[in-house]
Amino acid sequence: MNIVLVGTQWGDEGKGKVIDILSQNVDYIVRYQGGNNAGHTVVTGNKEYIFHLLPSGILHKGKICCIGNGVVIDPVVLLKEINDLAKSGIAIDSRLKISPLAHVIMPYHKNLDLLRESKRANKIGTTGRGIGPCYSDKINRCGIRMLDLLNAAVLRDKLKDNLNEKNEIFRKVYDHPGFNFNAIYKEYLGYGRRFRKYLANTTLILNEATRKGKDVLFEGAQGTFLDIDFGTYPFVTSSSATSGGACIGTGVAPVSIDKVIGVAKAYTTRVGEGPFPTEFVSDFAEFIRQKGKEFGATTGRPRRCGWFDGVMSKQAVLINGITELAIMKMDVLDGLKVIKLCNAYKYKGKIFKEFPYDLQVQKNAVPVYKEVPGWPETRVKPRTFKQLHPNAKDYLKLLSDMLGTKISMISVGSAREDTISMV
Ligand code: IMP
Repeated sequence: MNIVLVGTQWGDEGKGKVIDILSQNVDYIVRYQGGNNAGHTVVTGNKEYIFHLLPSGILHKGKICCIGNGVVIDPVVLLKEINDLAKSGIAIDSRLKISPLAHVIMPYHKNLDLLRESKRANKIGTTGRGIGPCYSDKINRCGIRMLDLLNAAVLRDKLKDNLNEKNEIFRKVYDHPGFNFNAIYKEYLGYGRRFRKYLANTTLILNEATRKGKDVLFEGAQGTFLDIDFGTYPFVTSSSATSGGACIGTGVAPVSIDKVIGVAKAYTTRVGEGPFPTEFVSDFAEFIRQKGKEFGATTGRPRRCGWFDGVMSKQAVLINGITELAIMKMDVLDGLKVIKLCNAYKYKGKIFKEFPYDLQVQKNAVPVYKEVPGWPETRVKPRTFKQLHPNAKDYLKLLSDMLGTKISMISVGSAREDTISMV
């Protein structure tokens, strides 16, 4: 079975944990979009791993992990991740396959990302990892791909062209000295030599696996509302973070996808700028942030926090074709007297039941809430759905009815065993 796993909110839903669990039962795990703007956290025993580029399933011995053509790769970060795993005694050499078509994040992309942000009046709040400029070059047809790092002549020509144009921009627009050709050329040819052994036709590998009836897990990064098309544009990332991205970013056709699982927190968070209709007022946001440890896994930035937004989530179910949901961090809501669930927005006297596209409406919409009673703190973590407090069960039922989707997994803590499966 081929499963796509996507975030239904603004990323940080806890996908890393779900991927880690689902990975036990699949043969291949593949990243298909985004880059090291992602930070997927996996806790095993008392060790915490944060993966930015490697698929989170890499911790499972014997599983093949692919980085698809839709991902943008910063070789510096990937190398560190590979070396860190080697230090922890986790061998990946025969298990990691990287698409030669994946684009490379170059040093100038990172600087451009930061400089562009510094000049913007309406900041996006990017992670500063060079993601947007790298994808821009891909679409502008001047990007450098992993396979280009193996070919000295191609890399030379592409890098020269890029620096000719970009150094002018650096100097004239940003008052920055620009970049030296020789230093980058040498360094990136070195990465080509280092990564050569991992480059493989991942499209062929994954299609062959599908043909043989193997199981593939497509690991989405970020979330539906950071998607370049369907997100709260322009406060989005530069890739297709929705389930369709899995096909574009791997070369596996839509007919080969069997199931899409959405991951949502029992509340909502967002890092960076942009509209957030159900955002909490500051005191309560701080309380939930501390309780839920809501700080970015990539940048450490405090995450903005709010109530569960059913309007957004319904849209996420629709766009992604979600038939199952994993609801994460239920335990963070323990001990609240009242819990709110947004089921519509109000703007200028008009009720919005569907997610509005107009940024003005997204920014100024007032959420319409359904209030439900909370449940007490639990001393012993529930291990089955039955053991959940009746009010927690009601909350989940309401959520499931609102979205018209079954809930197949609930998480009540960070450890692997704090996960309740409902299938
Ligand atoms: P970029 O992807 O670095 O260009 O950042 C664009 C927006 O997406 C910013 O608001 C980031 O905070 C947000 N973002 C990017 N990656 C993630 C993620 O993995 N989790 C949450 N937010 C993200």
